Amino acid sequence: MSIENTEVVDESEHRTIELSVNGDTHQVRVKPNELLLNVLREKLHLTGSKYACGTGECRACSVLVDGEPTLSCLQLAITAEGKEITTVEGISDGRTLHEIQQSFLDTGASQCGYCTPGFVVMTKKLLEDNPSPTEEEIRDHLKGNICRCTGYNNIIDAVKKAAEETEAE
Ligand code: FES
Ligand code: FES
Repeated sequence: MSIENTEVVDESEHRTIELSVNGDTHQVRVKPNELLLNVLREKLHLTGSKYACGTGECRACSVLVDGEPTLSCLQLAITAEGKEITTVEGISDGRTLHEIQQSFLDTGASQCGYCTPGFVVMTKKLLEDNPSPTEEEIRDHLKGNICRCTGYNNIIDAVKKAAEETEAE
């Protein structure tokens, strides 16, 4: 499923931009009104970031842009040029799951899994800033992430476990 900005844009207004995603540089041709989420999913085939509400209310599309959580369903791709984008695919090293991903697996925090990439990306940011968050801090940090399967308690457990394992390293 993709989110489309249906406003018609003349081909002459398309431009080629350079995006740095998960450490790789990509040249992509985009419309000036094209959303970052579409470019990631449709042009770079990084489908981990999910389209759900499309209106900034669920965080399923969360990515990090220069280390800051960003809703890719609201961000124009052209505004991300020159910045470092990290998607959920870039959280692990590509061979083994990151501690956060493993913790979500171990605690059963992922049911249908649609919201999981957004939670993982937001947890990455949380643990970078605060390696030992309290439960209250975890809940506060993730309060904007919506899980339609409503498995919130397992998600909180996953974040606690990830924090413990990150600290133990
Ligand atoms: S899809 Fe972006 S906030 Fe819901
Ligand atoms: S696990 Fe299904 S929406 Fe969260």
